[in-house]
Amino acid sequence: MIKLKADYVLTMNKTYDILKNAEVLFDKEIIDIGYNLPEKAIYLGKNSVLMPALINSHTHLEFGSNKTSLNYGDFITWLESVIDKREELFVSCKADCYKNAIKEMKKSGICAFGEISSSGTDLKYLKHSPLKVVYFNEIIGSNPAIVDAMYQDFLNRLNESIKLKSKNFKPAVSIHSPYSVHPVLMDKIIEIAKEKNLPIEAHFMESRAERRWLDKGEGEFKLFFEKHFKNAKPLIKPLEFLKKFKDTNTTFIHCVYANEKELQKINEIDGKIAHCPVSNRLLNVGKLDLEKVKNYTIDYSVATDGLSSNYSLNLFKEIRAALLMHTDLHPKYLAKDLLKAVTINAAKSLNLNNGSIEKGKDADLITFQLPDNVENIENLPIQIILHTNEVERLYINGEKI
Ligand code: BEZ
Ligand code: FE2
Repeated sequence: MIKLKADYVLTMNKTYDILKNAEVLFDKEIIDIGYNLPEKAIYLGKNSVLMPALINSHTHLEFGSNKTSLNYGDFITWLESVIDKREELFVSCKADCYKNAIKEMKKSGICAFGEISSSGTDLKYLKHSPLKVVYFNEIIGSNPAIVDAMYQDFLNRLNESIKLKSKNFKPAVSIHSPYSVHPVLMDKIIEIAKEKNLPIEAHFMESRAERRWLDKGEGEFKLFFEKHFKNAKPLIKPLEFLKKFKDTNTTFIHCVYANEKELQKINEIDGKIAHCPVSNRLLNVGKLDLEKVKNYTIDYSVATDGLSSNYSLNLFKEIRAALLMHTDLHPKYLAKDLLKAVTINAAKSLNLNNGSIEKGKDADLITFQLPDNVENIENLPIQIILHTNEVERLYINGEKI
């Protein structure tokens, strides 16, 4: 058993309790939180913070070798560059590339991540990850001629990942997007997710091009599909797409162009949203309307996306970017929500038993010290986001990593 004592303990529980000079007692799980608990305390020092470790709900480590290869500034131009460079980037992402990605996440206090795997090449590098992995086997392919082959390949990858299922490695599924997956495949994969109780992730309404294509069959995606697939008809309406995910635990990635009816539907099916502000900025698609999302009871997480559309996998940097980008929201209250977004909300997306300091939760914790005292505790979330890049300690299942 370990007992840590910090100047500030952020529980991220339902009432967002922040305790001053408090203690947390844990082994693999959190045993108790409070004052004068049994065991000798390890005091974490002046201006120390103890909080749940962060969770990166959406990454693409397969693209980890990208630094300067891809074209930013426009969604379709970026997508074309991804298609162009995909194989090259995958081949050049070997052991060191995955190690570096995990090292960066670990240093910045991330205990778990949701990995979108489109090829399965990442499996051998991630199966012994020191961080928890929720491994989303992704299906992509709208061309009817290749549906069967894509499905078989998906099943093979899924089965390989299921064999590795453990407390720290959880298989899951991903449907790339409403524009890139044939509806027949969507149905098959959602059936599997329901049967095996697997979380799902799907990109949704990331760009204006996607909006135009799915609504009207027009715009830049029309040219894109004519060029690559000689197929110029969208196969599903956005609302029909969302309805398919009823009775699943699905996180919709981006939702920048989701309209009111679609947000309502996401809310109705208890869907989650992952917001990737840096990725959205680099592809110049705008940003998620957090004010609108907050009118619903939709839990949103904040994630980095992959290094295919980011320069870093550090979640403190990501939420700092969010804090500075959402100029329509009050920074003090936004900061509070952003810390929830990378802890408890992300845990809900990934079906993990962590993300808050409460009895019975996994002891996935981080500690760090602020540069100075924070007098009014209301300012703690914003000061944490402004002044933290790396953590001092990271515990996963109660073990110091
Ligand atoms: C498709 O198969 O439809 C597709 C694949 C990659 C990007 C976009 C669409
Ligand atoms: Fe993504």
